[in-house]
Amino acid sequence: MIRSIVFFLAWLSVGVLTACSETNHQAQEAAGIKPFATLQEIMLSVIDPNVDPIWNSVSTIATKEGVIEKVPTTDAEWQTLRNHAIVLIEAGNLLQIPNRTVAVAGASTSIHPVELDPKEIEKAIQRNQKDFSEKAIGLQNAAKLALAAIEEKNPDALLKAGEKIEHACEQCHSTYWYPNDTKPLAWKSLGSKNINPTYAKLRNLSQS
Ligand code: HEC
Repeated sequence: MIRSIVFFLAWLSVGVLTACSETNHQAQEAAGIKPFATLQEIMLSVIDPNVDPIWNSVSTIATKEGVIEKVPTTDAEWQTLRNHAIVLIEAGNLLQIPNRTVAVAGASTSIHPVELDPKEIEKAIQRNQKDFSEKAIGLQNAAKLALAAIEEKNPDALLKAGEKIEHACEQCHSTYWYPNDTKPLAWKSLGSKNINPTYAKLRNLSQS
């Protein structure tokens, strides 16, 4: 009797394990969670507009008259940055919703010559959902450092958090977007008009 219970439990656990991803999917559908936007739209409409103000908030510009430091000063500026950090942290949750289309059919993600085709990206994400989620959590953790710096009104810590955020973007991009690129600085070829000054500065720093 005990034996058959043990067998039954063993059989059950195998069944549970194989059904696990299926169950996740079903639970997700039952909860009404269905991705709406493509991953490309999340990048362009949610992540980019909320990270740029954070990257641009602290900068040092050398001019003929001398070095101009730019830091947030007013409460309103800090509050705006806080709003952006909150969206960025939540964006990390959006990235973890499975089964998101990467790009609408025919859309180009080609701002980089060696990137994967959107359908290939989609397959790679589905095969490695756990790793993809970990990279999204990496972004959340970096954005949480930015939030802490904002709450302390600490420009130095915010600059450092900005670097961590950039690293989190790159970690995911170099794995899923352009894994065939041997140069770690792939993003530089985005075209200078698309690169915000802090981002470009960070890239130059990490290049030297
Ligand atoms: C968990 C993975 C992941 C993280 C984290 C991530 N991205 Fe992406 N991103 C991707 C993938 C995959 C693509 C390629 C597909 C596409 O174009 O959407 C991409 C593409 C992009 C694109 C190009 C969109 C296009 O096709 O025109 C931009 C811009 C972008 N990401 C910005 C960012 C920034 C900025 C961050 C960090 C603040 C970031 N991403 C963090 C996965 C990620």
